[in-house]
Order: sequence, then structure tokens, then C-alpha cells
Amino acid sequence: ANRILGKRGQFWQEDYFDRYIRDQPHFDATLEYINQNPVKAGLYRNPQDWPFRGTTTPEPSTTPRLSTTPGGPRASRPQKASDVSNLRKEYIRDGLKEDDAHPNPIEQFRKWFEEALAANLHEPNAMTLATASSGGKPSARVVLLKGFDERGFVFYTNYEGRKGRELKENSYCTLVFYWGELERQVRIEGRASRVSAEESDEYYRSRPRGSRLSAWASEQSRLVAGRGALEERLRGLEDEYEGREVPRPPFWGGYRAEPEAIEFWQGRENRLHDRLLYRSSGGGGWSIERLQP
Ligand SMILES: Cc1cc2nc3c(=O)[nH]c(=O)nc-3n(C[C@H](O)[C@H](O)[C@H](O)COP(=O)(O)O)c2cc1C
Repeated sequence: ANRILGKRGQFWQEDYFDRYIRDQPHFDATLEYINQNPVKAGLYRNPQDWPFRGTTTPEPSTTPRLSTTPGGPRASRPQKASDVSNLRKEYIRDGLKEDDAHPNPIEQFRKWFEEALAANLHEPNAMTLATASSGGKPSARVVLLKGFDERGFVFYTNYEGRKGRELKENSYCTLVFYWGELERQVRIEGRASRVSAEESDEYYRSRPRGSRLSAWASEQSRLVAGRGALEERLRGLEDEYEGREVPRPPFWGGYRAEPEAIEFWQGRENRLHDRLLYRSSGGGGWSIERLQP
């Protein structure tokens, strides 16, 4: 290139500087910068005449649109499971600063939960519940959050399934929410105890009749010979309770996980994420500390 141009010395600039394109104006400005490069170098007067132009000159009708869909320029989305190590995404949406965090983690959770609702996420109240046996063997599964306040986070389940058995042995549990589109995770650690019978009754009554009958039909987490056996049990219960109110099974109800620590995680650029950890200092007080990503 130097020979053709009659120049000497280094042709390409040393190194490079990469930046994420954040929005349409940023995209348009970058396009314009690239188009003006041959003009600035004195090679052509008009950017359109530059024969090696890889982009269109910005004109309202022809300007390429920046894709803002997930999996767009910020995400690497391989198609094969064997390429999983290449599946990564840069987190750039938001930050979480101590100054902006509510002093009370329940209120901070409310804010983020309302933002998850507003973002129309798929089942924003789905959370992973981790429990452990008395011997320390962990297990985890997804359950639905059905209420939260200063006292804790409530979910409903069968008291005799695996999680119920483990919580009886060891009341420590962890709840994890992952709101991917918002690049957020919330981790709640505490101890779970059963809600009152009245509270469980009230929620049970709000469930559809089919769900109420299924609560009776399932011995949660135990083996069953086949699906037919479960459906037969359900049909038997439908007959048994025909025209009658379905009472709550004594082995089914709610737990409230009372938090001791709540961590809010916000994904950030270059994996330098924000993590704020609230720890209960007793009597309703909370400390806030930052964790390294
Ligand atoms: C999105 C989603 C929501 C769920 N919600 C509940 C729930 O609220 N309560 C429940 O007992 N199981 C729920 N499950 C099923 C549990 O993940 C699990 O299979 C079941 O509770 C048995 O768990 P265990 O054997 O560890 O006790 C849900 C599963 C999914 C995928």
C-alpha cells in the first residue's frame, strides 16, 4: 500500500480500540466516521466514490438499522451445543450503586421485581430454591414466589416432597431469581418455616379447582408406576369431591423464607459486575457491602 501511495513508514495504526455500539445515534455516528476516513486521508473527495466502502453512506432511507434484539451485536449465539463455550453475552444495560440502592433490601427487591414485571419477562416470580439435607447434600428446584414482605418470601409446596423433608431436617435455604433480560440476579439466604394454616388455606382457596385436586393426587417426589396411575387418582378425587369444596391437604402449604442476607447482582461491562450484599444486623436493620464480581 505504501508503494502505491508513495508513502513510507508504518501503514496500519498500532493496536485498536473497541467500543460497544449502544444505540442508533451512536451507530450512525460510527458509520459516518468510517465513511469519512478516506476523505480525511485525502484519498477521495466524496465518501460515496471510495471503491472499498463496506457500508452505505448515511441517508435516511438507506441507513442500516442497528439490531437491538437479544442475540444482536452484544451476544454470541452459537447454534450447536458443542459450541457452548462460545456462548457469551456482554452486560451493558444498567449499574447498581450504593447511593441508588434502597437501605432496605425488601424495598430494593420490590423495585427490581416491579421492573421485572414491567419488562414482561416470562414468569418473573420463578425462583430456584436450594435446600440441603442434614448431612449437607444440596438439592435445588424452581418454585414460584407467591408473596413477600418484611417477614420474608413465600412459596407453596407439598410438605412431604424432597424439599419438604430437607427443610424439616435443615431449615436453611437459598432462593435465586435470574432475570436475564435485565441482566440481574437476586440471591436470598435465610431460614424457611411453615406459614400459618390460615395463610395456606387462604392461598389454597385461590387456586383453580384442578390444582387443588392435584395437590391431593400427588405424593410429591415419590416414584409412581406410570402417568395413568396419577390420572386415575385424579379422576377418583373428582368423583369424591363432586359438588363439594376441596379442602387443603394437611401435607400441602406455604413456607416463608426469612432472609438473613440478600445479594443484588447487576451484570456490567467486561464482567466487572456490581454486587451489593445486604446483611441483617437484627431488629430490622441492614448493612450494605459491595462484593467483588
Ligand atoms: C416454573 C416452575 C414453577 C414451579 N413452581 C412450583 C411451586 O410453586 N411449588 C412446587 O412445589 N413445585 C413447583 N415446581 C416444580 C418443582 O420445580 C419441583 O419439581 C417439585 O416441587 C418437586 O421438588 P422436590 O422433589 O425437590 O421437592 C415448579 C417448576 C417450574 C419449572
